[in-house]
Amino acid sequence: MKKIISVLLILTMLFSMTGMMSFAADDSLSVVFATDVHYAWEKITNNGTIPELQINPKTNDYDINEAYITGDTNFSHVPATGQLLFESGAILDEFLRQAEEDDAKVVVISGDLTDTGSEEASLKMAQKLAEFEVASGKSVYVIPGNHDVFKISKDRFKEIYHVLGYAEALAQDTASASYTADIGGDYRLLMIDSTGAASGGHQFDEARINWIKAQCEKAKSEKKHLIAVMHHNLLQHFAFDFIHEGAIIDDKYGLKELFAEYDVKYTFSGHTHAQDIMQYEASNGNIIYEVVTGALNAYPLSYRVVNFAESGVSFSTKSINSVNTSGFDKMMVKVDNVDKRAITDEAIIHAKADFKGYAQKAYRIGIKELFGEKLRTATLKEYLNINYKDDQTVSRIIDKIGAKLEEILVMPLYDKDKTKVGVMVPLVDPETGKVVLDDEGNAVMTARYSVQEITESYGGLLPPTHYKNLLDVLVLLYETHVSGGEGLTYYSDEYFVIIHALAAALNYCLFSVSEYEYGIMIKFMANKLEPTVLGKLPAEMYAYIAGGKQGFEQNIIFMTYLISPFVKNMVSDTIPSDRDVTLGAYKAYAEPTPPAEPDDPTPTPPAEDNSLRAKFVAFFDKIAEFFRMVIRVLTFQEIF
Ligand SMILES: [Fe+2]
Ligand SMILES: [Fe+2]
Repeated sequence: MKKIISVLLILTMLFSMTGMMSFAADDSLSVVFATDVHYAWEKITNNGTIPELQINPKTNDYDINEAYITGDTNFSHVPATGQLLFESGAILDEFLRQAEEDDAKVVVISGDLTDTGSEEASLKMAQKLAEFEVASGKSVYVIPGNHDVFKISKDRFKEIYHVLGYAEALAQDTASASYTADIGGDYRLLMIDSTGAASGGHQFDEARINWIKAQCEKAKSEKKHLIAVMHHNLLQHFAFDFIHEGAIIDDKYGLKELFAEYDVKYTFSGHTHAQDIMQYEASNGNIIYEVVTGALNAYPLSYRVVNFAESGVSFSTKSINSVNTSGFDKMMVKVDNVDKRAITDEAIIHAKADFKGYAQKAYRIGIKELFGEKLRTATLKEYLNINYKDDQTVSRIIDKIGAKLEEILVMPLYDKDKTKVGVMVPLVDPETGKVVLDDEGNAVMTARYSVQEITESYGGLLPPTHYKNLLDVLVLLYETHVSGGEGLTYYSDEYFVIIHALAAALNYCLFSVSEYEYGIMIKFMANKLEPTVLGKLPAEMYAYIAGGKQGFEQNIIFMTYLISPFVKNMVSDTIPSDRDVTLGAYKAYAEPTPPAEPDDPTPTPPAEDNSLRAKFVAFFDKIAEFFRMVIRVLTFQEIF
């Protein structure tokens, strides 16, 4: 029973769902939002010289532009962020072609316009966008991202991109590249430069907040609705956003609350290259939303068309499904002093036939490379902020666990024929789930050849999938978040593989530490991750997890808890949906006498959804509610 309660406790965390609203659409104002184009002009043209690939001493592999390139022959031109840099020009051209066809008259790009941020690349990008404006009769508005003001100053950025927002600006911040511009209807863009004065930093100072506040006041007095746009994020979208250091602005001056106060209901941003919408309920009860859009040059190659109307704001996700590959065979790189084609013929055939599939493959290969690098012991210690001097015990434990982690991440998930060298692990009694001891009390060791074998030795289940190792599984988790992909269910093989393989991996890592060290580790992790990352861990669950290091069930619970933010994104339509959804409208400016307007208009009642998925969600909602009640009674407090 205790086990069932714990499992259901986890499920309550995963299914905290609220109702989705839908509104009748009308067509007051449409805007195309794209971000993180990373137009890599130097790579595309070779800029007179051919970029040299450098060997990275850490990985012993080639570097392009400080990112570790992949080892895959047909994707060796892809950096470890999974972005399509050589292809970024073709992607931009196709985006502009689609934007020209769209009914929207306004196009907004929220930073990382070019990849290197050089003078030449910026000039070329600005020229492309200016030509688009002339040809299409539409208006483009840009702000800088961290890549754009790395090599050039903000003033130079404003000069280069002058006709792309600054020329039409109503107000400009002299201390930054921020400005406002009216775009039709009662809507005004509040284009906020979120990059720091120095390269790399991006925290707002009081002066920038004061400038924003003055614009809020001005908009209010002129009865304009402000649509905020910035490169970095206003809200935390994802429990693991901390992996993008500094992605979220330091909100010590209360920008979120300011936006809620002045009904700056929507903020559009980029930088994390993820497709995600998040809402924030301010202390005055108002709800504001932040809409992050994926990088234009990385899978799923998406941008948004947003319709602002009095009845609601509706989002539709569009994507680049094919590009003109005609220049792909001209791009060169220098490897070991030898000129080499950047994109192979085989890759071009793939890109021509199925560009989205090509982008997805590039993304998976790139991110796998990145995870392999990030999940090294030294990097993990850096993220968890542990150093030997301050915390010798935890540091030593992480060293032991980290070494095992590096091993199991690349161990085959399946190897029935035992083709690879096995690893020695303690033998587990399948009946009791406990490690078998010899006469002297030492663990009996046995060889295991795959993660599947380790999982099954604990009575776990690893159904056959095409994933080769745990890194592939982690990439799947991350990719689902980034692409706004939803719909993976508890019935899926992927779900079983994710939870069971990770729990097996945790068991494997924990073979290296004692019961005592395990206790310290769980306590450290719980303290480190809650409440900032994961929220408060219910006391019962903590006691259960801390109950024993050999417990596979406990580790399943712990892994579920740890990755619940990923899984929540994967198994449910998160509210709001990250791709196509209609959300609340801006408050109407009352005239002449203010009627009592609700924050959001009354939603039209949704049609009854009888799908299996809807029933599944409703079922877990009921369970979640029941267990919330039980926990409240048991502990006399609110837990969730
Ligand atoms: Fe970016
Ligand atoms: Fe960025």
